[in-house]
Amino acid sequence: MPLVTTKEMFEKAYKGGYAVGAFNVNNMEMIQAIVEAANECRSPVILQVSAGARKYANPVYLRHLVQAAVETTDIPIAMHLDHGADFEICKASIDGGFTSVMIDASSKPWEENIALTKKVVEYAHAHGVVVEAELGKLAGVEDDVKVEAHDAMFTSPDEVEEFTSRTGIDSLAIAIGTSHGAYKFKPGQDPKLRIDILEEIGRRLPGFPIVLHGASSVPQDQVAIVNKFGGSMPNAIGIPESELKKAAALAVCKINIDSDLRVAFTAAIRKHFSENPDHFDPRQYLTDARANMKEIVKHKIVNVLGSANKA
Ligand code: G3H
Ligand code: 13P
Ligand code: ZN
Repeated sequence: MPLVTTKEMFEKAYKGGYAVGAFNVNNMEMIQAIVEAANECRSPVILQVSAGARKYANPVYLRHLVQAAVETTDIPIAMHLDHGADFEICKASIDGGFTSVMIDASSKPWEENIALTKKVVEYAHAHGVVVEAELGKLAGVEDDVKVEAHDAMFTSPDEVEEFTSRTGIDSLAIAIGTSHGAYKFKPGQDPKLRIDILEEIGRRLPGFPIVLHGASSVPQDQVAIVNKFGGSMPNAIGIPESELKKAAALAVCKINIDSDLRVAFTAAIRKHFSENPDHFDPRQYLTDARANMKEIVKHKIVNVLGSANKA
């Protein structure tokens, strides 16, 4: 099956009360881990590429690696631009074969966010590509930009109808307490999402797919492995999986996960070298890293997203 957009994926996810995982990819092993996991779980999947990933791997390499994934499986796969900062990067991605792009103008003033998002939507829709945009502001680190917790802003339900109707977007990312990176809450803080805001947005936009960024849960067993084998990730705390499950059962159709995969990849490599200090063949430690990442993705699909057997 060729690359697909997220349109049909989201229609089914909305009706079925589950979400599709959007996992960040930077190299071949990550793409293999995610796609093998999704294929074995018979789940649709979104592979997303950030500006940092484009810089690291070259989008042409990533496109061909994703194409290899498409040719070796038969599940629905979408290729998505994560956090597109301007029209040019969205256009380059659309021209380069992506089936979905995010224009993230959420830090810009209201009218500017609308104007830029609308311009991307017009170009994308003319090329059969779908568009995600964002309202509200998440805390944390994305593409080298750090948003401090006090600058974060929940999405206002009062704004969503005007924003979606004036821009024509296909999905909306909202801020309800998730944040980017592995340090989302301080010890002692109550790690809850504002499910009430999500419910209200769901009422204002019936049938419309909502996206959650910054949704890593930071599994403590993986953090413990990192810390046991020479790493230092004190107080790495994520979003409880129970909160994500509530969101997936409501209007949330896409859940973005990156940090959890990074931690799993790194935990396996740290463990590998600790147990095999003489190894120097990258295939040896990357085999472990890929296998560990695959297990995490399977866990997300089966136990958090609910997208198994929905391919
Ligand atoms: O939201 C950001 C993603 O985690 C991508 O991170 O910009 O370091 O590739 P990155
Ligand atoms: P995490 O840092 O929580 O994995 O979020 C990833 C993300 O939102 C990518 O856009
Ligand atoms: Zn994000």
